[in-house]
Amino acid sequence: MPRFLLFFSAILVVCGTNPCPCERPELCLPIRAQRDFEVFVFDVGGKTWKSYNWTIVTTVATFGKYDADLMCFAHFHGARVVLKGDVPLSYIVDRDNRTAWIAEKVQLAKSQFMDGINIDIEQAVDKGSPEYYALTDLVKETTEAFHREIPGSQVSFDVAWSPKCIDKRCYDYVTIAESCDLLFVMSYDEQSQITGDCIAMANAPLPQTLNGYDEYLNLKIDSKKLVMGVPWYGYDYPCLSLSQKGICSIPKVPFRGVNCSDAAGTQKPYKWIMKQAPYFNYKDQEGQIHQVWYDDPQSICSKANSVTSKGLRGIGMWNGNILDYSDEPVARQQTAMMWNALLGC
Ligand SMILES: *[C@@H]1O[C@H](CO)[C@@H](O)[C@H](O)[C@H]1NC(C)=O
Ligand SMILES: *[C@@H]1O[C@H](CO)[C@@H](O)[C@H](O)[C@H]1NC(C)=O
Ligand SMILES: *[C@@H]1O[C@H](CO)[C@@H](O)[C@H](O)[C@H]1NC(C)=O
Repeated sequence: MPRFLLFFSAILVVCGTNPCPCERPELCLPIRAQRDFEVFVFDVGGKTWKSYNWTIVTTVATFGKYDADLMCFAHFHGARVVLKGDVPLSYIVDRDNRTAWIAEKVQLAKSQFMDGINIDIEQAVDKGSPEYYALTDLVKETTEAFHREIPGSQVSFDVAWSPKCIDKRCYDYVTIAESCDLLFVMSYDEQSQITGDCIAMANAPLPQTLNGYDEYLNLKIDSKKLVMGVPWYGYDYPCLSLSQKGICSIPKVPFRGVNCSDAAGTQKPYKWIMKQAPYFNYKDQEGQIHQVWYDDPQSICSKANSVTSKGLRGIGMWNGNILDYSDEPVARQQTAMMWNALLGC
């Protein structure tokens, strides 16, 4: 080994720095370029990231085990890779504890050649409580530390579909938005608090989804801080009973010489129709009837169009791994359509 390499290795050992795992050392450098349109992917582990559409991905939040190959691959495509940040808020009310947590995350990101952090605190918080202020401080101080220590890094914060204390998450959304690079709005699980009839409904109906963005924008939060999160998953509800749905035989209502007509149905305005996300029913092996609600390329496409019309920062999904990435032609086509829908239609 040449002497200068020995010297370098010694420094690496002394400083505890990991050697770059990528083929080319420059792939370990943090991503600095800012792209206008964000496509923010949550990755929960495994290797399906190899099949993502890397032409459009800008950030991958790694919620699975750290994968150096993913980091190298993302950097090769100019995409950021960010840590997951979560901590019980009761721990970080204490300033020293908070500072220690932030320092640990910055060190972890650096040692893994990462480009920021996604703070995913979904805990209930009362407005004005010590946790309320600690959370706001956590976001502000984390952003300052990351930007200082890893130039070009990105700090994002996950919020519910609406700022109105959804799931008792009464956070200081305005200050949090000002204090980080972007909010990832989780526009899904929107039926987490059903106050009306207890019935299966869409995970993320379009009007409810868009209403959430209007509520954020009404708080004067910059639209360029908001990334729309769409679900790449649905809900399967076992049904206690199922009303006349599924196979549809209609009553015979005669009209002008024939015995059956659309007069058997009731006309519904588009404002009603657009509330209906796709769903289907099925009976499982035990005979239990289920109702499944989900988003598809068409429903995602409508949402993606609103990302543009509302001037939002971009779009993302929970999560990138759960499409069918097999080689089967129909699967390939459907998977490509889900990715393409992110850019609107
Ligand atoms: C500080 O954080 C640790 C966990 O890292 C926790 O056990 C401890 O209770 C916290 N201290 C305070 C004062 O909140
Ligand atoms: C309509 O229904 C009546 C009574 O069931 C039947 O006799 C008739 O043939 C039907 N007409 C047609 C066009 O099917
Ligand atoms: C990836 O996205 C780009 C940009 O929208 C698109 O042109 C391309 O066809 C997509 N790739 C695949 C494999 O679908």
